[in-house]
Amino acid sequence: MDRRNAFDLAYLACACLFIFGLKQLSSPRTAVRGNQVAAGAMGVVIAVTLWDSGSHNLAWIIAGMVIGGAIGAYSARAVKMTAMPQMVALFNGVGGGAAALIAFSEYHIATSSSVSLANDAVTSTLFSAIVGSVSFAGSMVAFGKLQELITGSPVTMPGQKLVNAVLFLAVLGLAASQYVGSQSEGVLALAMVLSLLLGVIMVMAIGGADMPVVISLLNSFTGLAAAATGFVLHNNALIISGALVGASGMMLTRMMGAAMNRSIANVVFGAFGTGGGGEAAAVGASGGQVRATSPDDVAVMLAYARRVVIVPGYGLAVAQAQHNVRELADQLERRGVDVRYAIHPVAGRMPGHMNVLLAEADVPYTQLYEMDDINDEFPRTDVSLVIGANDVVNPAANNTPGSPIYGMPVLNVDRSAAVVVLKRSMNTGFAGIENELFYDPKTTMLFGDAKESIMNLVSAVKAV
Ligand code: TAP
Repeated sequence: MDRRNAFDLAYLACACLFIFGLKQLSSPRTAVRGNQVAAGAMGVVIAVTLWDSGSHNLAWIIAGMVIGGAIGAYSARAVKMTAMPQMVALFNGVGGGAAALIAFSEYHIATSSSVSLANDAVTSTLFSAIVGSVSFAGSMVAFGKLQELITGSPVTMPGQKLVNAVLFLAVLGLAASQYVGSQSEGVLALAMVLSLLLGVIMVMAIGGADMPVVISLLNSFTGLAAAATGFVLHNNALIISGALVGASGMMLTRMMGAAMNRSIANVVFGAFGTGGGGEAAAVGASGGQVRATSPDDVAVMLAYARRVVIVPGYGLAVAQAQHNVRELADQLERRGVDVRYAIHPVAGRMPGHMNVLLAEADVPYTQLYEMDDINDEFPRTDVSLVIGANDVVNPAANNTPGSPIYGMPVLNVDRSAAVVVLKRSMNTGFAGIENELFYDPKTTMLFGDAKESIMNLVSAVKAV
């Protein structure tokens, strides 16, 4: 086997390992190993690529890898679980920026020599430079919003859609000029600047709460830009890994959209969950009475129940009450109560938010039930304990045509014998709509910060 074949075989083996790693990420039990397998394969790909390219600029490359690797390793260890979305945004943006810069540098090399690039090479270079720039700028704005460095509210301007359209067409026009006229790195640079502007304007107009979906979409863009860079550099491993990121990012974006019953266009252009829903306010205005309860009363209900289903939501993450929830569950289990956790796919604000939060508190995976696996169990549940969740348990999604969340799959807690909701007030959740569950005669509300309420519940259960 010659050297070229050996390198290609190594790339192919690593591509298989990437896919295997991705597959393992689909279960919490195997996710850590999946991550290690894919990271190991990426290490092999880097080594093979360096070997393949000879010793050209090796010192610079290794210096960059050491500095970048150290920053990456430190930030991954130091980041708080609640700051994970902005970290993903930052890393994703850097990936998009790198793809754009590599494309620009290759264009510079080509246009500086007298040979003009073939059309397919122009296409991949332009794609990588433009999409990578949009992804970089958009991700940086998403990072700024999530880190609260800039406002989380949508920032729009008069004629926003027109400005977006003009910018988009200008970028397309500049790109098209590279096929007909002479190839110019100045024109590519201008197209990249306009793409950066487009990324900023588009993401500035989206509310902070929608950022996880946007980041997933931009992640997909970065993958596609990286795949195009693979064509520019004639690197098969980069083409395959970029395509995997592009495809999985797009699937995740679509799955998040489906779990919220919203199209990607609605997320990107909808200004949802930002108080902008006049129709939202009208829905669910039941005018009914809610019943407030006390920790002592809830403790008695829980302690004498056969089955309790805990439904965690965004408020649990805000209150950082995961360890207290675990303690409450331990207390109940000691009394023989069957305790389960019902996980909605978009509970919280990022994919897998609740799984990660509960894993942090060492809640056993076997007690976590996906929505489809637990929904049929609610009629056999004595108490559903809804902790800082709102939209994901709103029966309007099943019962109220015309509600903004009608058709969104929800956890059917209203079918259990009793429901206790822990939240601080009657405020709405992310979707900005009232929740008729709170007015259901079998629902009682335990008002207060989730952490404090659960701590009180733990003491009260011990005293029963
Ligand atoms: P939400 O519907 O946003 O409700 C969270 C509730 O938590 C609020 O009603 C709030 O009420 C309460 N809360 C906040 N801080 C609290 C605290 N310290 N103690 C107790 N309660 C507290 O959350 P959810 O049910 O998890 O639904 C998630 C929403 O986010 C869905 O609409 C989903 O579409 C959207 N979303 C999710 C994702 C992903 S991937 N997860 C991405 C984008 C959007 P009070 O203010 O009265 O306490």
